[in-house]
Amino acid sequence: MEVKVDPKRVLVTGGSGLVGKAIERIVIEEGGAREGEEWIFLSSKDADLTNAAQTRAIFEKHRPTHVIHLAAMVGGLFRHLRQNLDFWRQNVAINDNVLHTAHEFGVVKVVSCLSTCIFPDKTTYPIDETMIHNGPPHWSNSGYAYAKRMVDVHNRACFQQYGRRYTAIIPTNIFGPHDNFSIEDGHVLPALVHKAYKAKLTGTPLEVCGSGSGLRQFIYSLDLARLYLWVLREYDEVEPIILSVGEEDEITIKDVTDAIVEAFEFTGPVVYDTSKSDGQMKKTASNAKLRRYRPDFTFTPFRTAVKETCDWFSANHDRARK
Ligand SMILES: NC(=O)c1ccc[n+]([C@@H]2O[C@H](COP(=O)([O-])OP(=O)(O)OC[C@H]3O[C@@H](n4cnc5c(N)ncnc54)[C@H](OP(=O)(O)O)[C@@H]3O)[C@@H](O)[C@H]2O)c1
Repeated sequence: MEVKVDPKRVLVTGGSGLVGKAIERIVIEEGGAREGEEWIFLSSKDADLTNAAQTRAIFEKHRPTHVIHLAAMVGGLFRHLRQNLDFWRQNVAINDNVLHTAHEFGVVKVVSCLSTCIFPDKTTYPIDETMIHNGPPHWSNSGYAYAKRMVDVHNRACFQQYGRRYTAIIPTNIFGPHDNFSIEDGHVLPALVHKAYKAKLTGTPLEVCGSGSGLRQFIYSLDLARLYLWVLREYDEVEPIILSVGEEDEITIKDVTDAIVEAFEFTGPVVYDTSKSDGQMKKTASNAKLRRYRPDFTFTPFRTAVKETCDWFSANHDRARK
């Protein structure tokens, strides 16, 4: 007997970014797409999702059954310090437009993307999924953090009122090919990759902002993409899930710098500029929930993933965002 598969049209907002490109690679190049699935990857050129009419038009055009919602105004610590208000307004608008339009078009499932930097500043560690709303976030990124927290509020209310199973994932720091390698506006790891590349090229010291002692967990974009597909297909909770390496894999910014230095075989001096902010000293997250569902999942070793990222940046230097 022939088994009939319901067609699934998966719309990926933010499909041109770091995470979107990783999902595209897993879906297209590694045969991650299943029978009956059609994948559509959007960039801001297809629709400005801060605009309700453009958001409606793109849903009208593609009529998705499922949405992976990645589109966001994203940036590192120094961009947050400069543009806190823009982070709040743009992200609230994008999230409300996408989630509400998805509901209006009968989308079965939306998986949005939060971040561990939205958790309360004053908290106990490790952070887990139940603690999102337990106190104010760190002042430096409060606009972004509150906008992201409201996605969880929206998802719960949408379930309560309409029974929709819209959910969210919470990744720790993501890195990989197609990241934003801007030294001014990028996250710590891609900014350091770019700085190290330049330092090697020009024979100058590698300057690291801050003391290097801040602790972080990093997830390789391709590992996150594989887990994202699992959440879309198998994870049935409205409550979000942290997607991260374990607490034991938390590392310092100095460890990150060492891995990048090794990947580029950089032999010049490394200088830590302690006049610059370290941001939050740590935000250790628990991946116990993920491990309960996926005890089998193997993360790419950090140094392998950093090497692949540095190689991609070198090979794509001209077209990389920077
Ligand atoms: N990177 C991290 O370390 C990290 C950590 C935790 C969570 N996250 C979350 O992960 C998700 C993906 O982040 P990412 O690092 O992949 O970001 P990214 O590389 O900066 O990509 C952002 C994506 O959003 C799109 N976008 C931005 N503004 C838009 C708008 N007004 N309308 C339509 N599309 C818009 C961009 O389109 P264009 O290419 O056309 O500009 C791009 O595709 C975000 O929700 C972010 O908050 C990221």
